[in-house]
Amino acid sequence: MSTDYLPEHRHPFRDRPRPGSGPTGTSSTTGPLKRNGPAERAAVVDLAAIRHNVATLRSWVQPAALMAVVKADAYGHGALPVARAALDAGATWLGLAHVSEALELRESGVSAPMLAWLHTTGTPFGRAVEENIDLGVSGWELEPIAEAAQRLERPARVHLKIDTGLGRNGATIEDWPAVVARAAELQESGLIRVVGIFSHLAVADEEDREAETDEQLELFHQAVETAREAGVDPDVRHIANTPGILHRPDSHLDLVRAGLGIYGLTPFSDRPATDFDLIPAMTVTTTVAQNKAVPAGQGISYGYRYRTAAATRLALIPLGYADGIPRPTIAAPVAIGGQRYEVAGRIAMDQFVVDLKTDDATVAPVGATVEVFGPASGISADEWAAAAGTINYELVTRIGARVPRIHVDTRPGEDVGAPTGESR
Ligand SMILES: Cc1ncc(COP(=O)(O)O)c(C=O)c1O
Repeated sequence: MSTDYLPEHRHPFRDRPRPGSGPTGTSSTTGPLKRNGPAERAAVVDLAAIRHNVATLRSWVQPAALMAVVKADAYGHGALPVARAALDAGATWLGLAHVSEALELRESGVSAPMLAWLHTTGTPFGRAVEENIDLGVSGWELEPIAEAAQRLERPARVHLKIDTGLGRNGATIEDWPAVVARAAELQESGLIRVVGIFSHLAVADEEDREAETDEQLELFHQAVETAREAGVDPDVRHIANTPGILHRPDSHLDLVRAGLGIYGLTPFSDRPATDFDLIPAMTVTTTVAQNKAVPAGQGISYGYRYRTAAATRLALIPLGYADGIPRPTIAAPVAIGGQRYEVAGRIAMDQFVVDLKTDDATVAPVGATVEVFGPASGISADEWAAAAGTINYELVTRIGARVPRIHVDTRPGEDVGAPTGESR
């Protein structure tokens, strides 16, 4: 766990209930601030939730293996602790966008198989080969990778990517035969080993767009067949992301790449994470920075987009768009003392305001714990994402560097067990 830098006596969530066990209701701090009070701001990440989610997703996909996608600092959750928790819970691969992200994990002692899939001409392919990091390949990368392998006298491990419709990286259907032919040559000469063939789904989170996912799967199987005919027979075929894992069992194949789901979030706009027994791992929390009485008609924040309807008290929340709280957010919920309130007016760089709609000065006093979102309050990243016109993926990933990640383990030492094999 990476709580070492935070002395135990200052841990804001030592007595925090387990995820899903109800509101925290911890807003009773009044009077002078406690010296050893809560952290000023924190994204508390529950590694027990990560392990639970990985084990749950494994039970959906087995016998397919699970790659935990921990790119972008594990969607803002902290790559190293999340990677370790995911591996503990039975993930057998780690997925990263950049080789540099994979190298950081290697340097921290993570030895599990890793795949990095987004490269530029500046990518350190040689380091990847030295560190046994698998490389996603759309086409052009084959030559610099082969050069690095030749120089190091060591075969590179590659996964060939076919673009079955997303239109991002991956070889086009037209270019695929040439890419597999070249990969077959390089494999024959011992410079590369084609470990996998993969693709990425475009619309599997939209449950009424089955036909387009069907088409992607069909193209994928044809691409694998073309590769086999060219003498390239991979160990693993993979195309499923979290939407595919949860909604398209026919996409599971040999390996799935699970990102969002391992963080306990749902990819579907109409189905909450609880439908899939997923537990949100991140709680964003802070404390009330000011509480004051204002009259009716008080304008709030830049542009006065909100005015108080009656005399009321305002709570100032010390998080803003510099911390990843999206500026376009309108009326998102927050919990203070187990009660839900709404953001009033614009989110500023460092702060936003909540209209407490009361003249009771004991409500949400300075120092009271604020939960922006998290399982204890029941406020989901989905609600915030909807209020901000974005998606939960972006919301958690962009929680800023000024918000320390605090990793907790609400069920230390638990045995996550083997996949149940239950069909769902
Ligand atoms: C290539 C690739 N695979 C898998 C994932 C994981 O997707 P999800 O977070 O929906 O599980 C991503 C994330 O964007 C990705 O880029």
